[in-house]
Amino acid sequence: MSHFSTIPAILLLSLPPSILVGIDLLTFTTSPNFLGIKNLPPGWHFLYTSETTSFSIRDGFWFHIPAPSPSPNSPTLIVRKWDSATSNLIPCSKDEEDKAAEGLEGIWRERLTPYRQSAGGEEKGDWAVLTRHITPALLSRLTGSETDWRITTASCGAQDADHIPGLSAAETGLEERELRFLGIDLKRTWRAGAVGRERTEAVLDRSWALGEVEKRFSSEGDGGGDVVMGEMEVCFLMVLTVANYSCLEEWKRVLGLVLTCRRALRARERWFAGILELLRRQLERGDDVEGGLFDMGDDGGAYLKGLLKGFKMILGQVFGQGEGDDVKEELEELEVFLKAEYGWELSDAFVRKGMLELEDGEQIEMELEDMEGEDERGEYAPVVVEL
Ligand SMILES: *[C@@H]1O[C@H](CO)[C@@H](O)[C@H](O)[C@H]1NC(C)=O
Repeated sequence: MSHFSTIPAILLLSLPPSILVGIDLLTFTTSPNFLGIKNLPPGWHFLYTSETTSFSIRDGFWFHIPAPSPSPNSPTLIVRKWDSATSNLIPCSKDEEDKAAEGLEGIWRERLTPYRQSAGGEEKGDWAVLTRHITPALLSRLTGSETDWRITTASCGAQDADHIPGLSAAETGLEERELRFLGIDLKRTWRAGAVGRERTEAVLDRSWALGEVEKRFSSEGDGGGDVVMGEMEVCFLMVLTVANYSCLEEWKRVLGLVLTCRRALRARERWFAGILELLRRQLERGDDVEGGLFDMGDDGGAYLKGLLKGFKMILGQVFGQGEGDDVKEELEELEVFLKAEYGWELSDAFVRKGMLELEDGEQIEMELEDMEGEDERGEYAPVVVEL
């Protein structure tokens, strides 16, 4: 058996010339000779294409390279082919895969480009850090497919197409596959049937809602995954690579859930420290997002800043001196980064009292951080009535 069959590679057949290809954190325009990427490291990868380099529809898919095994029979060759009707890379039949594998030796040297994580050759290991908690079950749930984990940028064109007679989504070849997110509802974070004090507490402390999500999707965490962190990872990277803004909304919902927990924070200090570390690692790559992850003056930035200020306040209330050091240290590192990068201050909050009004009119008194004249919690905020 030739060694070609044991070094992981991905073949991309029938690509149009000079198309934009991205793998993980690196994008490049293909040369006419290009047929794929070799020397893929083990772990998760996301490969995407776009027919133009300008900001347009991008279509990509996740795949996994298993850790090297002593028996070299593990499938290390992934084969996809360009489908010109839909302008994206689709899986191949077994026959096509076998045929491609046979011709591998002839193209290996000249036509496959070695994997690099980012331009400049500096391998920082970021990609691995940003994909640590993803599992096959999570991607299957998100994409609604067991085998083809595709995520795209919704084209305005595809949505508009419904309204143009004779141009349905089917005719443009773009099928809409909605992503199946965790179903976090920040407007309803209490147990069905909860009343009075229990409900009040669940509004002020979303630990119950966090636990529910984890319970509902617990099977996705099997084998070292973590459903909440995994969701945060995939969603962030889908903003970074294919600019899928449904994923940005989900990422914001996950943070809105996690950063408003008190009871869980006390009980699971290390987990929260991990969340803060992941958030910092993600924000460190925020500049790679076309146009910035969010313009720090806009809603997205204000939303996150408000959440972090609130979290800092909770942290101070939940832990006394000498407690919660893991989380405190991670928050400090995040603060240093946010201050240097965006000039954010998380400490300038002064506490005032206010009333939260729930949808059905019940009012709850709570302490609020300075909202800087506007409601920084965005659309999920209950109405605040000043005392
Ligand atoms: C995000 O990706 C999904 C799955 O490909 C797609 O259905 C959805 O329209 C995309 N949303 C945006 C805003 O790009």
